[in-house]
Amino acid sequence: MAPSPLGPPNPLSGTDAGWQLDPAIVFLNHGSFGSLPVAVAEAAERHRRFIEAQPIARLGRGVADLLNAPKEALGRLLGAPPERIGLVENATAGIAAVLRNVAWHPGDEVVTTGHVYGAVRQALFRERDLHGIAIREVSVPLPVQSSDDVLARIVAALTDRTRLVLVDHVTSPTALVMPAREIVKACHARGIAVMIDGAHAPGMLPLDLDGLGADWYTGNLHKWVYAPKGCAFLHASAQRAHETHPASISHHYGAGMDLEFGWQGTRDVGAWMAITDAIAWMEAFGAGAVMDHNKRLAEWAQRRMVDSGLFEPISPMDGSMRGSMAACRLDARWRHRFASVEALQAAILAEGSVEVPCMELHGDWLVRVSAAPHNRPWQYERLIDTMRSLDRAI
Ligand SMILES: Cc1ncc(COP(=O)(O)O)c(C=O)c1O
Repeated sequence: MAPSPLGPPNPLSGTDAGWQLDPAIVFLNHGSFGSLPVAVAEAAERHRRFIEAQPIARLGRGVADLLNAPKEALGRLLGAPPERIGLVENATAGIAAVLRNVAWHPGDEVVTTGHVYGAVRQALFRERDLHGIAIREVSVPLPVQSSDDVLARIVAALTDRTRLVLVDHVTSPTALVMPAREIVKACHARGIAVMIDGAHAPGMLPLDLDGLGADWYTGNLHKWVYAPKGCAFLHASAQRAHETHPASISHHYGAGMDLEFGWQGTRDVGAWMAITDAIAWMEAFGAGAVMDHNKRLAEWAQRRMVDSGLFEPISPMDGSMRGSMAACRLDARWRHRFASVEALQAAILAEGSVEVPCMELHGDWLVRVSAAPHNRPWQYERLIDTMRSLDRAI
């Protein structure tokens, strides 16, 4: 195939230094758990030491004050007032809080897509088993045609029993940016509540959560906001805030999101304080510049992977459904050589020292690359060379 005329973006100067990543590993999986810049890790440690010096004064009496700065910084990044942003430990906790808050009636339906994150599917099954609700997974076959096509499929699945639509902003196995705004509009026009699972979205996509208008939106900060693990949030719309409680109820039940989420039992507030430092780290390069760099690198990587002839595209090549990750499909031959996607992932690591997730979705084998500030074009070339060498052995 002819080489693509589009080159990779210029790296953001200084973003390849200051990580804790093992230089022996080509790390193309920022999307799963992120990786923490040294500067943010050190800030979190400073905050922890500050708390440990006077635990009663700082956690017991002062926790609300400690959380003001991170919540304000987060509110600016997300386009939402801090009092309707509850800090949680991960997107799983954000989703659990919402599912637990809905007063289900037997026969209610939740609509999601076949690309839903596996753990979220399990959380929905738990609600089904407890409350007799139905879970409808809308089929979105590969290759995905367009945002409009996804929207039409979701809308076609809505019925008068649909109580909640729960859709990923960025899907995990397929790395698709879903048309969140259009989904919210279409559901609200039918009186249906929407939760957006934005586990990957903060720091990957520009967000304006109040403008988006979803009833609930949860997002992780340890991935693309470069914050410590344990940093995530749940945002509720103005209409939903009063009925939104954390999954772990503690002293402030009923006192409003700010207080209720501010104390969900004793936890690592030092990590949450470092949200301010993580956002400052990103803003030092320009938050928009970081997002743009990552998106363009993912776009270039997807093109290189497809041009290599080893991978098939599963999403529009025009970038209309892409953020800072790209997933491509492998053909059926790989399944004959490798017993499972886990075996293939292990072989890629052993052969080329490349850490990249291989996932199976409805029988398709997918390889997903991430593009973070620490990534450079040669790393995707290494993946392609490694796959080529494994391919020769098939
Ligand atoms: C779409 C989606 N939802 C939810 C999660 C769960 O995130 P966590 O394990 O941080 O709770 C993930 C994790 O990557 C995800 O990709």
